Amino acid sequence: MSFAPRIDTAIMTALRHGQAAPAPAKLAAALEHAVTPGGARIRPTILMSVATACGDPDPALSDAAAVALELMHCASLVHDDLPCFDDADVRRGKPTVHRAYSEPIAVLTGDSLIMLAFETLARAAGKDPVRAAQLIAVLARRSGMPGGICAGQGWESEDEVDLSAYHAAKTGALFMAATEMGAIAGGQDGAPWIELGARIGEAFQVADDLRDALYDEDTLGKPVGQDDLHGRPNAVAELGVDGAIRRMRDILGGAIASIPKCDGEEMLARMVNAQAEALTPIKWRAAQATRIPGE
Ligand code: IPE
Ligand code: IPE
Ligand code: MG
Ligand code: MG
Repeated sequence: MSFAPRIDTAIMTALRHGQAAPAPAKLAAALEHAVTPGGARIRPTILMSVATACGDPDPALSDAAAVALELMHCASLVHDDLPCFDDADVRRGKPTVHRAYSEPIAVLTGDSLIMLAFETLARAAGKDPVRAAQLIAVLARRSGMPGGICAGQGWESEDEVDLSAYHAAKTGALFMAATEMGAIAGGQDGAPWIELGARIGEAFQVADDLRDALYDEDTLGKPVGQDDLHGRPNAVAELGVDGAIRRMRDILGGAIASIPKCDGEEMLARMVNAQAEALTPIKWRAAQATRIPGE
């Protein structure tokens, strides 16, 4: 099942809300630059898959949750690319927001997307204010301090880094948010779903290490070789390419085993397998019977 059209429609509706007159034109355009066209939209896809597996009793609330999560992710990328963080020129194959507009506009774009994320959830509170408040709390916890993406970025300013806390916060947090928020929007308790998100996040970090080591900037649409450049510990340096791929698949096997009992259990297992395939570098995918000679 593809959730892409549903996610894109919901994102555009929220975006138009943030761009409505009398918005300043450059900032309004920069919001769109930061959010469209999207990347893989993996977090809202996971969120929608979990909500659907739980029966999706309030699709407007699931839409709002998926939008809020993706807007938060996009905001984190705009800020991450700024000169004071990674100083990146390219994101999703386009100039980064501070390159296309300016640094002040990029700071404000990230800030505005964060506000729009929470506003989107608050506006969807109509039918079920309690669940909307829970979604706001989870998104805030997984984005801020002490364990959210702010903490993840904060670890990069420490002399001593707790690697598993760093990865769990920088990458894992929004995947945990995806499964928790999907369950809450689906009318369930979020807690039993945290492990699934944590495991997918761990696998995603390994996949990201692989992409950083194996791909070029044109293919990936963002700077590569960053782990080696910044001397960051990573799965490819630790395990080699084949070892890292095995590690990623093992973690995703554990992710499938952790799926809580629900009507959509099999659909979710298929979703995780599809993500595993999509995250595997192209030459190593199962469909690829033979390796390209010499590579
Ligand atoms: C990039 O995330 C940031 C990391 C946490 C590594 P994605 O690879 O999901 O980025 P997009 O949204 O597809 O561009
Ligand atoms: C970005 O991490 C993650 C967050 C903004 C939380 P990275 O700096 O490692 O990812 P890319 O390579 O820029 O996407
Ligand atoms: Mg970074
Ligand atoms: Mg970066």
